[in-house]
Amino acid sequence: MDISALIQQALKARCNAYTPYSHFQVGAALLAANGVVYTGCNIENAAYTPTSCAERTAFFKAVSDGVTDFCAIAIVGGPKGMPTRQCPPCGVCRQVMMEFTDPDSFQIILASDETHYHIYTLRQLLPLGFGPDDVSPSHPLLP
Ligand code: THU
Repeated sequence: MDISALIQQALKARCNAYTPYSHFQVGAALLAANGVVYTGCNIENAAYTPTSCAERTAFFKAVSDGVTDFCAIAIVGGPKGMPTRQCPPCGVCRQVMMEFTDPDSFQIILASDETHYHIYTLRQLLPLGFGPDDVSPSHPLLP
């Protein structure tokens, strides 16, 4: 995986952010297991709650294309589009990642530019997360 190329795609996606309310622009680049990169930006709304974060935009673009296996996501963002520091994914986006990834191997790259970034697993950012296995009737703690 070319991490700096993935970050560059996130930086580019951020330019399409629709943020008339917060002016906080976020870009995400989601690398699927098939090698395709799905980008996303945050899309705000006058009613506020329908807002989609950049990460969820990227995931839903991929899933709506029939793609559900993912390796990594690069995220950049900041006020007025300046990614001066890390932009950690919100709790709702972490939960969406929990649905479609292996939390122990999925990599979340929080970047300020192509060369400054930290990598976390989803498990690190969502310890004890609730996921598809917890809904399964074959849960290990059930009789
Ligand atoms: N936002 C994202 O797109 N991703 C995140 O991980 C955190 C927050 C967006 C939502 C809203 O449009 C703006 O940033 C300010 O919260």
